[in-house]
Amino acid sequence: METVDLLIKNANELVTLKGPNQPRIKKEMSNLSIIKNGSVAVKNGKIVEIGKDLKYKAEKIIVASGKTVMPGFVDPHTHVVFAGSREFELDMKLKGLSYMDILKKGGGIFYTVNKTRKATENELILQSKNRLDKMLAHGTTTCEAKSGYGLETDTELRILKIQEKLNKTHKIDIISTFLGAHAVPKEHNTEEYVDIVISEMLPRIGDLASFCDVFCEKDVFTVKQSRQILEAGKKHGLIPKIHADEIVDTGGAALAAEIGAISADHLLMSSDKGLRKMAEKGVVGVLLPGTPFSLMMHKYSPARKMIEFGIPVALATDLNPNCWTENMQFMMQLACFNMKLTPAEAVTAATFNAACAIGLNDTIGSFEKGKQADIVIFDCPNYKCIPYHFGVNLAETVIKKGCIL
Ligand code: NIG
Ligand code: FE
Repeated sequence: METVDLLIKNANELVTLKGPNQPRIKKEMSNLSIIKNGSVAVKNGKIVEIGKDLKYKAEKIIVASGKTVMPGFVDPHTHVVFAGSREFELDMKLKGLSYMDILKKGGGIFYTVNKTRKATENELILQSKNRLDKMLAHGTTTCEAKSGYGLETDTELRILKIQEKLNKTHKIDIISTFLGAHAVPKEHNTEEYVDIVISEMLPRIGDLASFCDVFCEKDVFTVKQSRQILEAGKKHGLIPKIHADEIVDTGGAALAAEIGAISADHLLMSSDKGLRKMAEKGVVGVLLPGTPFSLMMHKYSPARKMIEFGIPVALATDLNPNCWTENMQFMMQLACFNMKLTPAEAVTAATFNAACAIGLNDTIGSFEKGKQADIVIFDCPNYKCIPYHFGVNLAETVIKKGCIL
């Protein structure tokens, strides 16, 4: 009998998400390929086999009776490296100030930029590490992370280098996005700053990032400016992503389709036309329900319509000082309760489609032979309990590349 490193046995539900290796759309989002009383065998950090009653000798056996076993969450949109916090904005929001009101007063992103520029490398590493620890503890085994709290070349590069360091030293896998165009710093007008992003920052990104993102929004970067930046990013080998139509519909969804973005994120206000273009081009719609929740907007992305149109929908935390959560379980809960995703769709959106949103679906996001053994054992009998039983952490055991954490 072959020996493996780890055998997880007899899970009440082994949620494999096994299926075609392309973003899941429409009904495909509901097919979780569950194995009742399932087992998974792991060797050298990879999945060897999934099935029932697997016959292996194992260095370590976990009996998962009564539990749900799923691929680790993939969080495809975070701003994890920043300094300080903005809890004082909560009172401002309660008084009715909007996100843009706070930003225009020099708060919001600018407050965090100021803190981040002044922080030492060590402070940034320690604060970010604390967030990554919490992500892992809640079942996230891979995340995307954006720069964007530097808004000047040196600090933007410093953030990306810190992400690179954290990726090497922390158990969680981090894939980086350059978001120099997160806001226009006080020192420059928009045209000047777009030029700095394109001619000064982008040529220096090199291997520090895989994606280039822009906050395409009224009073931030126009569609035209976003297109310029993302086209320039492509010339430097960076795949486009967009913060699109979060507060106002400026045509960000259509731009994502036109430019070949891997994902368009937020999409609260997008037009049907823009959404249909995304569906045509297979752009993943990354929905961030924590953001309208923390902004008390009482409006969420039209997820049902997106699924009907054929957009592959993913979920992410948007972890940032305005929307501070490390918890993808909570995103599934918000997605079901406020965007009417079914629990099965929410699982696909938080795992396989999330992996597609950062181009990692070849290696993570589902249980298939040869894929990375990123596994979470949830203390509940079935996947529907994850959105149902809210406000607590149901992730009991988190396994990254075969290592039990
Ligand atoms: O995705 N909207 C732009 N960027 C972030 C928020 C950043 C912040 O407020 O610090 C977002 O929501
Ligand atoms: Fe964001």
